[in-house]
Amino acid sequence: MTTTLLALSAAMREGSRTEHEAAEGSSFMSELLDGRISPAGYTAYLLRLRTVYAAMETVGRQHLDDPFVAAVHDVDLERLAAIDADLDHWDPTGPRQVDSPAAEAYAARLHASAAWGGLFAAHHYTRYLGDLSGGQAIGRILDRAFDLDGRGIAFYDFAAIGKPKPYKDAYRARLDALGTSPEETDRVVAEVKVAFGLNQALFEELGRDLPRWRRA
Ligand code: HEM
Repeated sequence: MTTTLLALSAAMREGSRTEHEAAEGSSFMSELLDGRISPAGYTAYLLRLRTVYAAMETVGRQHLDDPFVAAVHDVDLERLAAIDADLDHWDPTGPRQVDSPAAEAYAARLHASAAWGGLFAAHHYTRYLGDLSGGQAIGRILDRAFDLDGRGIAFYDFAAIGKPKPYKDAYRARLDALGTSPEETDRVVAEVKVAFGLNQALFEELGRDLPRWRRA
C-alpha cells in the first residue's frame, strides 16, 4: 500500500519501518544495551544528542506560528536540560560540545527544516516519539546495566507529560488533524527517512570508534 493513502501519522510509521529496523540493529546501540559501553562512550553519545536537541528545540520555539510546529511542539518534551543534567553525572568536568560531523550535519538539517513545518514535524516525530517508545526501554536497560538507580538517565524521564501511550495517541491525532495532502504526506515521510538516516549516521560515527568506547 502506498503511504499516501494512510493518515499522516500512520504513513510516517509505515514509511520508516525499514529505517527503524536498521537503527535498532546498529552496533553502538547493541553494545550500549548489552552494557558494554563505557561512561566515556555514553558521554560521547550524549554530547551528540545535545547538539541535535539544542537545534531541534531552538527551531521549534522559533516557529510556533507554523501549524505543523504548533501541532507537535511541547516544552514538556524538551530534552536539553535533561541532557545537561545527565552530562553532569557522566562527565561533570568535561566539555559540553563535541566535534562531530554527524551531529553537525543533523543540526544543519534541523535548521533547514524550518523552511516548512512539515519537515520539522518529521524530525520532531522521529526523535521524541522514539524517545517515548523504544527509548523508555533503553532507559530501563541502562539503569540496570550500569546500576544507576535512576542517576544519569534524566533523558528518558518524561514524567512531565504523564503516561507515554495516551500522549503518543494524542500526538498522532494532532498530526492527522492537520489534513495534509498526499503530496505533503509524501514530503513528510521522505523527511522522516532522512531523520532516521541522520540518526544512523550518528551511530555509525560512534561505531567507528567502538574499541575506544568499550567498557574496560
Ligand atoms: C535499540 C534501539 C531501538 C529499539 C529497541 C526501539 C524500539 C521501539 C519500539 C518497541 C517501538 C514501538 C513502541 C510502541 O508501540 O509504542 C518504537 C517506536 C518508535 N521508534 Fe524505536 N527503537 C529503537 C531505536 C530507535 C531510533 C534510533 C529511533 C530514531 C531516532 C527510533 C524511533 C522510533 C519512533 C519514531 C517510534 C514511533 C513509531 C510510531 O508509533 O509512529 N527508534 N521503537
